[in-house]
Amino acid sequence: MSDFNIALVTGAGQGIGRGICLRLAEKGFDIVGVDILADPENKNKGLFEVKQKVEGFNREFLPVQADVSSLDDHQKILDMAIDRFGRIDVLVNNAGVAPEKRTDILETTPASYDRVLAINTRGAFFLTQRIAKHMIHQVGEDAEKKPCIIFISSISAYVSSPSRPEYCISKAALSMAAKIFADRLAEFGINVYEVRPGIIQTDMTAPVKETYDKLIAEGLIPQKRWGDPADVANAVVSLARGDFAYSTGLVVEVSGGMNIQHL
Ligand SMILES: NC(=O)c1ccc[n+]([C@@H]2O[C@H](COP(=O)([O-])OP(=O)(O)OC[C@H]3O[C@@H](n4cnc5c(N)ncnc54)[C@H](O)[C@@H]3O)[C@@H](O)[C@H]2O)c1
Repeated sequence: MSDFNIALVTGAGQGIGRGICLRLAEKGFDIVGVDILADPENKNKGLFEVKQKVEGFNREFLPVQADVSSLDDHQKILDMAIDRFGRIDVLVNNAGVAPEKRTDILETTPASYDRVLAINTRGAFFLTQRIAKHMIHQVGEDAEKKPCIIFISSISAYVSSPSRPEYCISKAALSMAAKIFADRLAEFGINVYEVRPGIIQTDMTAPVKETYDKLIAEGLIPQKRWGDPADVANAVVSLARGDFAYSTGLVVEVSGGMNIQHL
């Protein structure tokens, strides 16, 4: 058992989730990392790469291979986390996918719609429900420590992209889920926050890198650069360590100013 805080991060194997794990570990958190990307033989990519890096900060890392869209996997995630660390202080719902193929809203398929919603929204919703119940129990045993929950949504929660409507819808719904959990869990002292990344350089955005390079050069982002996973991770760490303790339901945008409308 660890005396330090325990964070459970989904989609921890690469990209933004990986960045969140490393920054939390640097700040003293032990980590439960959940991902489908987990091969003990592969120390170059996925959960076992992240494990090595987290251990480099002298923190513990428990890799859990699981699919957040499979509700059957949720109990396994909770059981493994509790067996190893005895508690969960921070849940970061980060796992998410883009549509396999960008398709105009007039041609969106039910299969793509269901896949994206199942992972990005339904999975995060029911995993949160399960872990929140555990956190309520935890608060009953240790009223001093207040757990929190962080949802990684996207600017797509409010920006329209007609070529990937299922993604935007999944993130808009996730944003509302964060708000409702914040409302419901406030009485237990469990704060819930939403972090909205803009355009972040990861494998998810690799297929559209050239398009976004051009848009950024043309002024799409006031701060005129790609976001880095560390930009998102810094916001998560600040929320996780309680810097915004009187701000449940807070939405933090990490987008270089894309929220600014200008003439
Ligand atoms: N990259 C961006 O520009 C950007 C912008 C806004 C929001 N986001 C959001 O941030 C989150 C992370 O995105 P990223 O850019 O790091 O993507 P990524 O594709 O680089 O990483 C996503 C990780 O989630 C894992 N994952 C996917 N489906 C899973 C499942 N069913 N169960 C468990 N793990 C699963 C993947 O294996 C991968 O390790 C996503 O929710 C994404 O929607 C990303």
